[in-house]
Amino acid sequence: MRRHLLSVDDVDADEIAALLATATEMHDVQRRQVKKLPALRGRTVINLFFEDSTRTRSSFEIAGKWLSADTVNITGKGSSASKGESLRDTVRTIAAMGVDALVIRHGASGSAQQVAQWVDASVVNAGDGTHEHPSQALLDAYTLQQRMGPLEGRHVVLVGDLTHSRVFRSNVKCLTKLGAEVTAVAPPTLMPSGVEAWSREAGFATSYDLDEVLPKADAVMMLRVQRERMAGGYFPSAREYTVGYGLTRDRLDVLGPDVPICHPGPMNRGLEIAADAADAAQSLVLDQVSAGVAVRMAILYHLLAGEDS
Ligand code: NCD
Repeated sequence: MRRHLLSVDDVDADEIAALLATATEMHDVQRRQVKKLPALRGRTVINLFFEDSTRTRSSFEIAGKWLSADTVNITGKGSSASKGESLRDTVRTIAAMGVDALVIRHGASGSAQQVAQWVDASVVNAGDGTHEHPSQALLDAYTLQQRMGPLEGRHVVLVGDLTHSRVFRSNVKCLTKLGAEVTAVAPPTLMPSGVEAWSREAGFATSYDLDEVLPKADAVMMLRVQRERMAGGYFPSAREYTVGYGLTRDRLDVLGPDVPICHPGPMNRGLEIAADAADAAQSLVLDQVSAGVAVRMAILYHLLAGEDS
């Protein structure tokens, strides 16, 4: 693996397989009473979050701690960024303390790439604007694999606000690398511009018709309507969005009880996913959260542990 994890482009299919294999071992540690490995003793991991987060930030922190790294959390609001310090000065200040890895979430697409050029530490992209969220895609692949076995040839349907979704962009790359068939479903206003060329090149399908695609799905991933990234109206009303693209009770019946349902969270219950679907036996939402720690342990381990560890 390269020094940084900025995009799913940084890992090939073999490296993804190796990471997910390590994550399986890390998941065993997670189930123990004493959750501690010495692998990253003496290493320092800084979580630098300029956007809100519940799952990603806490799971990176727990992952670092369980590997015995020293972890520090810094949020945009509580840092000197709120006094007007530039991103470059903030990260160079932190890096000057001698950190080994910087996990960064920032509202600007491309920010993680930029940060990697400014510091010697390993940089992990924990979400940069609408661009990528590679650790989420890896944990989604891990969760699906645990449930379904190898994803090669399996049909995964990604539904929702794809325009604003970094989870979508990373997942398309990761799932296609693993040989899955992917269909991206969104209303025309929330289908990313340029998707035709990208889908042709990357080999995934697109559709505006959820009801046509759903019966052919082996797994469904619902993605959040990201109102905080929307200026203006992308759909007439919440009700119309749900009627066209929500995973409703009726669509759950079409899906059948064995098709896993994923959502990276946070969920808009009643908008993109009905409570019945979110809480169904086939829902993997909490499995994804649990896998998040194991997969992030694997990422930190692969980036920071020496060959001899
Ligand atoms: C995602 C994110 O922040 O991009 N959430 C997450 O990391 N669990 C998806 C989202 O916010 O909808």
